[in-house]
Amino acid sequence: MPYPFEPYKIKIFDAIKVLSKSERIKALQEANYNLFKIPSEKVTIDLLTDSGTSALSQEQLSQMMLGDETYASSKSWERFETAVKNFTGKKEVIPVHQGRAAEKIIAEALLDKNDVAFSNSFFDTTRANFEHRGATCFDIPTEKAIDLSKPKLFKGDIDAKKLRKLLGRYGKRAKFVLMTLTNNTGGGQPASFRNVELAGNIATKKGLKFIIDACRIAENAYFIWLHEQKKKDSIKNVIRNLFSLSDLAFMSTKKDGLANSGGFIVTNDKSLAAKLRELTVLYEGFVTYGGMTGREMETIARGLEEVVNPTYLAHRIGQIAYLHNELTKIAVPLIHPPGGHAVYVDAGKFFSHIPQNEFPGQALVAALYQEGGIRSVEIGSLMLGKTSKPELVRLAVPRRTYAQSHFDYVVETFKKISKNKKQYRGFKITWQPSTLRHFTCKLKPIN
Ligand SMILES: Cc1ncc(COP(=O)(O)O)c(C=O)c1O
Repeated sequence: MPYPFEPYKIKIFDAIKVLSKSERIKALQEANYNLFKIPSEKVTIDLLTDSGTSALSQEQLSQMMLGDETYASSKSWERFETAVKNFTGKKEVIPVHQGRAAEKIIAEALLDKNDVAFSNSFFDTTRANFEHRGATCFDIPTEKAIDLSKPKLFKGDIDAKKLRKLLGRYGKRAKFVLMTLTNNTGGGQPASFRNVELAGNIATKKGLKFIIDACRIAENAYFIWLHEQKKKDSIKNVIRNLFSLSDLAFMSTKKDGLANSGGFIVTNDKSLAAKLRELTVLYEGFVTYGGMTGREMETIARGLEEVVNPTYLAHRIGQIAYLHNELTKIAVPLIHPPGGHAVYVDAGKFFSHIPQNEFPGQALVAALYQEGGIRSVEIGSLMLGKTSKPELVRLAVPRRTYAQSHFDYVVETFKKISKNKKQYRGFKITWQPSTLRHFTCKLKPIN
């Protein structure tokens, strides 16, 4: 299935080094089988994350040269603030250095011990920041998301019935409802406009805040525009309409900001904004840069304009669908349908000979590196602990970075692994930190 050709020409490139298999095995051992510790020059195709890995456009690079690095109220801040207001339609803009900084600030402003929050699915850092405040977080995806292999639309929806029930059960302990767009932990699947609106209405009726994690809101809006609104409105308007449903939204601009860093919180609530700004000064920096340089704010300001382009989004979503389709052809079990930023492999099924407590996802991550120098990430028991049901491996596609031949190489590597799956073993953890263990833990293959 072809997809629209790259809507850009290559002007500057970053050469890819290809190591031998024995060099890759050595690199794996040296990294204690944790792919986060493999030096990037030893990686052939890096599908670890789509976060902060986007290629910049020539316009972003040239605008960067205008970076105003004065401490307060710089020209870059003015351009950033205007672009964020234009993108979101919100009046109050609070800058932060990346998404989890926003999560930390929101957690401190809105959550206390024993509070409860609900989501279609919380991303790992979001959950960790909220739980760090002593709150409890509930993921309530819909039934249609449970069957990974069924290609149902809008599997990123929240289960409204269960949400009502849980809100009733937790009463005053319930603090807010959060929609992650797209639902990263749940397979990069979009939520429908109708579902986001419904979740917002349910929260409002209970007097709770409705929050949007907008990291990939442009990709989510593309699916809404294509399938729900049948291309009637513009993608830019769909995005603004989504933001308008929220009381508060935050965005890591390392994703749909088409930038290598940064983020923001937005709201129309002046008194909430004032509270968030106090915490921003404490943790991030002055309220007109929030931990970002002027140059970074310039790339984001421009990136937020570029990301709403339908040609860009058709290519982006087309790339994911291509990789998804080619892997489906060779019977790799995946989450269906393809989502917005990544292909998710059902590693529990693919490596069915490896039990859950031996991390089949991590075994596949290690195998992909060993056989092809491909870096991916486990989203299963290693990352999420006991809350995880499916053992997934995410192949996240950096924006504007790879072309079709790179994806064909990934498919060839899967073919190699598929030929003799039983040779790959499970893992055990030899050391782990107290939180977010997947980033730094050490592992050992089980003999
Ligand atoms: C859905 C979602 N929310 C929040 C974050 C956190 O953003 P950051 O990595 O900028 O801290 C991420 C990062 O991948 C994410 O995917």
